[in-house]
Amino acid sequence: MQAATRALIDTLTKSLSTPLEEARGLPPQAYLSEEFYELELEHLFRRDWICVGREEEAENPGDYFTIELAGEPLVVVRGTDNRLRALSNVCRHRYMQVVMGQGNAARLSCPYHGWTYRLDGRLMGATSMSESRILDKENCRLPEFRLETWLGFIFVNLDPEAEPLAPRLQELGNRLAPYHIDRMRISSMYDEIWEGNWKLTMENNAEAHHHRTLHPDTLQPWMPGDDSHCGKDEQDWSLLRTPLMLDLVRAEAPMYADLMERWSADIKPQDRKETLTYVIYPSSTIDASPGIVFWKRMLPLGIDRTRVMMGALVPEEELNDELNRYNREFFEVLNPEDYQATWRLQKTIRSRFAEAGPLSVKEACLFYFQRYLGRRLSNI
Ligand code: FES
Ligand SMILES: [Fe+2]
Repeated sequence: MQAATRALIDTLTKSLSTPLEEARGLPPQAYLSEEFYELELEHLFRRDWICVGREEEAENPGDYFTIELAGEPLVVVRGTDNRLRALSNVCRHRYMQVVMGQGNAARLSCPYHGWTYRLDGRLMGATSMSESRILDKENCRLPEFRLETWLGFIFVNLDPEAEPLAPRLQELGNRLAPYHIDRMRISSMYDEIWEGNWKLTMENNAEAHHHRTLHPDTLQPWMPGDDSHCGKDEQDWSLLRTPLMLDLVRAEAPMYADLMERWSADIKPQDRKETLTYVIYPSSTIDASPGIVFWKRMLPLGIDRTRVMMGALVPEEELNDELNRYNREFFEVLNPEDYQATWRLQKTIRSRFAEAGPLSVKEACLFYFQRYLGRRLSNI
């Protein structure tokens, strides 16, 4: 390991015993070092539970969607037995990607030479292979990876030895129960590739401290970041609370206000007046408000390229074209503001004079995220 990478890991390890008042942001190398990026893939994205989608994206037998996780092409598919599976999307013949995009199919057919697989990954047919003495058709299959669902979200883990996800998110699931996320559906989606290291987007989502300056006319009036505050370090996740100016939401977007009112009944009075952002490591966040949840996923495609996926979720009975359009416009207005910050950061971090500055107490969730990195990487 390069000395600079070792020094970076030492810094992360130190964060585990550093008080919040002495916290700094991540050092520039955390966003620039290829070696560190490879370690992140190896120790986070190939070992931890990663949110890859919603159950409704593969709702019926034969429904599938594809995703790249830590360089690994995957297909998430619902079988005829109604079970969701995460399979390797690499053909066992000569490495072609078996299916692309998303869709519904009775079987998975490789577009190169036509090998076909059952929806559970087992090989079904292999063309012109009868002379082969080494094709073991019975045991040939697309490798399957661990998959768990939680509140309607699909999580995948590439590590067969990983601890199960459910106990880890149980407490968080209890806290989110009043929002009924398991009954929510996708109202609108956003799926783009952003220039910038995945952690920049993750950090951006984990604080509201930038609302006044980066979103002065969009988010700040509704969700003033100056009054946001972070909970404590919960190890696998953390909580950021941002006030919700309900009177203003009512005046400017009565549709949202009505929705929030209709779905407030089970939510504690104090929580009704706030958006609760749960930062779930390594790479997803959930912004929970009554009746509406914004869910974000960041998947690294390279050291400075990230697939950023967001979904606006609402209770199924609330879905309607107007609300869906409104949510889409919300993404279209807001996301360019965050995106221009992340790609600029990726450039300026390269300055020879850049160094990690102190964090505000309003950025505590960034520091907790840093500690998570420290826990995952300190013993390697
Ligand atoms: S690579 Fe898939 S059938 Fe040949
Ligand atoms: Fe933002």
